[in-house]
Amino acid sequence: MKQIYSLRLLLLAGVLCLFSHQTMSQTYAAEGMVVTSNRQGAEVGLAVLKKGGNAIDAAVATSFAMAVTYPVAGNIGGGGFIVYMQANGETTTIDFREKAPLAATADMYLDEHGDLIINENHLSPKAIGVPGTVAGLYLAHSKYGSLSWADVIQPAIDLAEQGTEMLYSNYFTARFIEGRHEQNPEEMKYMNEFFRDDAGKIVEPGELWKQPDLAKTLRAIRDQGADGFYKGEVAARLAGFMKEIGGLITEEDLAAYEAVERPPVHGTFGEYDIYSMPPPSSGGVTLIEMLNMAESVSDDSLAFNSAEYYHYLAEFMRRAYTDRARYLGDPDFNPDIPLNEILNKERAARLAAGIDPEKASVSDSTQVQLPEGTNTTHMSFMDKDGNAVSLTYTLEYSYGSRIVAGGLGFVLNNEMGDFNPVPGVTTSTGLIGSAPNQIAPGKRMLSSMTPTIVAKDGKPYLVIGSPGGRTIINTVFQTVYNVLAFDMALDAAIEAPKIHHQWLPDQILFERDKVSPDTQALLRAMGHKLIPVNGLGDLNGILVEPRQNLIIGVSDSASPEGAALGY
Ligand code: GLY
Repeated sequence: MKQIYSLRLLLLAGVLCLFSHQTMSQTYAAEGMVVTSNRQGAEVGLAVLKKGGNAIDAAVATSFAMAVTYPVAGNIGGGGFIVYMQANGETTTIDFREKAPLAATADMYLDEHGDLIINENHLSPKAIGVPGTVAGLYLAHSKYGSLSWADVIQPAIDLAEQGTEMLYSNYFTARFIEGRHEQNPEEMKYMNEFFRDDAGKIVEPGELWKQPDLAKTLRAIRDQGADGFYKGEVAARLAGFMKEIGGLITEEDLAAYEAVERPPVHGTFGEYDIYSMPPPSSGGVTLIEMLNMAESVSDDSLAFNSAEYYHYLAEFMRRAYTDRARYLGDPDFNPDIPLNEILNKERAARLAAGIDPEKASVSDSTQVQLPEGTNTTHMSFMDKDGNAVSLTYTLEYSYGSRIVAGGLGFVLNNEMGDFNPVPGVTTSTGLIGSAPNQIAPGKRMLSSMTPTIVAKDGKPYLVIGSPGGRTIINTVFQTVYNVLAFDMALDAAIEAPKIHHQWLPDQILFERDKVSPDTQALLRAMGHKLIPVNGLGDLNGILVEPRQNLIIGVSDSASPEGAALGY
């Protein structure tokens, strides 16, 4: 097994990104595999698998552990999705997306003139949605786990109680927060104590970082199940804290929260079956629509990495993201989402046939703002029986709302920012105002998270997902497409150049060090506007090579503190 560390400091809202050296972690194994962006979490998952736990046990244990070790996105104060495929091909999903509090309204972020109050929907106590993670992990474990509940949560309690080695990423974040706090004590008031020891000193890299408040909250969840979070003392303290800081979540909101099991969205690409997350995520639907378009265009006509390849990908993205904005939202509030139409292969072929091979189309800007956070995290699991879990969860921004629940030790999400904040107003800069994703009490905000499992011959073949807000779907799409259409090895597909187009704004983001200047020039000549970015996505995937009984785990070079651990 190759275990290589390097340093990347991914700090608040992507403000500061320092790269020294990047490398991915790739591991071969025969029995089981865990791939995450945080080695400490992966170690917990691997220990659970070795102890005889199944993929769900490992996923639940790792998710709780990463709420301790990887607070930038690991959480119990946020939400997410699980796609679970058993070795026999039966597939289901668990939706634990956050919900709008009961006091939320469609215009809650507008001033008296109907204008959006800047940052109110992203960085304010009112941006916090009712957390879903604990309910989702509890539901997944109750239905599909094999170890006891205490067995899967105890490792997280131990990490919080006994301490976990301070990682460079957390340490530099702590320093960054300290600087911001000194400049503006109001801005970082809830985070400033987070990475400090009892003496008030920021814990140094390599030292043990203890989180006693979080350990206490986790013990309540261990002893009372999901009720330990949504009812009783933790719920009362959380609701009291929300009242104190001007948030909306009440004990009634917490008691009413439920995770939901939903059938996956299903598509095909050649001989492969694609299973992914249905609404309230837009991920699976948009992924399958793009794969359908790609399948309708002959493989030979799109040479990997050519200007034509990027042109077609961008045009698939433009078309699929238009449907995303127009139709998708919480299915419990939008019973008429035309899924059959959006996922129809003939319709996708017609959309793809409308692409001019030499010229960019133009996005119609009479429609969409939806600035989504990029700091979600994805993990992939496979157990010795061949069951697979694809799990993505999030706090929305890095460290979510940057508000630590008073006395409870965990960071709260700012997921309300994923709703369309200004009803009816869609702009060329990317603000979306369409009805399906407007705020309503108890509604789930639309997500782009795309935990996905590709099956071959009815068995899990590729387990994949990524963080990245609205870029997630495109990152997963290109990785799946590169593996399925070009027979690319998983490590090559994960590291391959990525682009992102989301209909509006009408532009292509591209990884600056991976798309050649000649290709950029060709794309500009076709009429595309190009915006360079440092990187897109942070994929953690597993590919099964059935002929050799080999499980290959790959953790993206974007997360040098990540790991693929197998046995
Ligand atoms: N918070 C990112 C997403 O749900 O897509």
